[in-house]
Amino acid sequence: MSFLRNAEKLFNNVYLFTWDTFIALANLIAPNRKPGSVIPHGQPGAGRKWPEFVPPGKGDSRCCCPALNALANHGILPRDGRNIKFTEMTHAVKATFNLSSTFSIFVPTYAADMLHKNYKTDSFDLADLNVHNGIEHDGSLLREDARFDPKQDTPNLPLITELLASSTGKAPAGDLCFTHADLSRASGKRRGAARATNPDFTLNKSQKGFASGNCASLLLVFGGRVAELEPFLTEERLPEGFEPHILSRWGLSLLVFNLNIFKIERAIKEEAVPVAAMVQNETA
Ligand code: HEM
Repeated sequence: MSFLRNAEKLFNNVYLFTWDTFIALANLIAPNRKPGSVIPHGQPGAGRKWPEFVPPGKGDSRCCCPALNALANHGILPRDGRNIKFTEMTHAVKATFNLSSTFSIFVPTYAADMLHKNYKTDSFDLADLNVHNGIEHDGSLLREDARFDPKQDTPNLPLITELLASSTGKAPAGDLCFTHADLSRASGKRRGAARATNPDFTLNKSQKGFASGNCASLLLVFGGRVAELEPFLTEERLPEGFEPHILSRWGLSLLVFNLNIFKIERAIKEEAVPVAAMVQNETA
């Protein structure tokens, strides 16, 4: 049985990555979407008009992912964050962030497998995604490690303020923005600090891939713009008049995404932080 399941998974992945290569090539040839009309007509966000932002209330389910929380905070996913079909998540991330069909299927399928659920038929609550050492991992940029913050459902403002202050890039219009090198540096610093203070610290290869993938999403979806990332990361709100910076006709392919992950992860140098210095900082 498990042999058959593994064979099916392998087949699905070969199919998905082949399809993705075609999407990446088609994006090179096809003209880009025009700024102002990236979100398809009839979808939330078309013409840069988003459903109202309402912060989560008591009893609402939220998770460690700012993007999925933002979708619930705007009512693009159910506002209570509960009973969401995996296929509904695929549709919402694809339309809102201009991701390719392959990307939008791959990550939710991975999440369904992680939760031992069926991608096509099952549902989940956002908080289900917080399972530690599934996709959620130690050394994240926006949350303390699960040892110190077991719920993982709210932004950690001191970490985010430090991150936002660390950008060094300038966009053509002069806006502050993150570069790949900025996010490699911030990740190296954060991983070093987490390793020094968390006796349970772990971070395996695939989690490093997810971590740098999350950094890549900040660069690609938000163009790394600090002014847009500020509401997104601190309030889990789509910035006023938001539109994804991905203009590709068929959305962000896994191939392009993975090249960005590789660029970020390769340049990460984990900073060794002496424990004594951490203790001193915390008591200062
Ligand atoms: C497609 C379905 C998605 C799933 C199942 C998912 C799941 C997750 C999970 C479990 C985490 C926690 C990782 C950690 O411990 O740091 C996370 C973090 C994150 N996700 Fe998502 N995510 C999805 C889509 C997206 C999208 C579309 C974006 C960007 C627009 C995004 C941006 C982020 C960011 C920036 C983080 C925070 C990383 C950090 O704290 O270092 N995610 N996501």
